[in-house]
Amino acid sequence: MSHPHIAQKAPYPLDVEAGKNYFWCSCGLSKNQPLCDGSHKTTDMTPVKYTAAKDGKVFFCGCKHSVNKPLCDGTHGKI
Ligand code: FES
Repeated sequence: MSHPHIAQKAPYPLDVEAGKNYFWCSCGLSKNQPLCDGSHKTTDMTPVKYTAAKDGKVFFCGCKHSVNKPLCDGTHGKI
């Protein structure tokens, strides 16, 4: 299992729409953070699907080490 690249040590706020699916980049290589752009093909990692329960702002993990993936849990402050 390879380790994800730290895209940034902060979450990525994103406005999401209820019922819509989002594919969070778990490898950290996407140029379209926090979402997957296919760059993980060079790794053994795959994106994590997130379905928005309601309209609003979501804080996606930017450091890629959150225990609560794909959402930020504050882990970026400890790495
Ligand atoms: S580009 Fe990172 S998981 Fe797809």
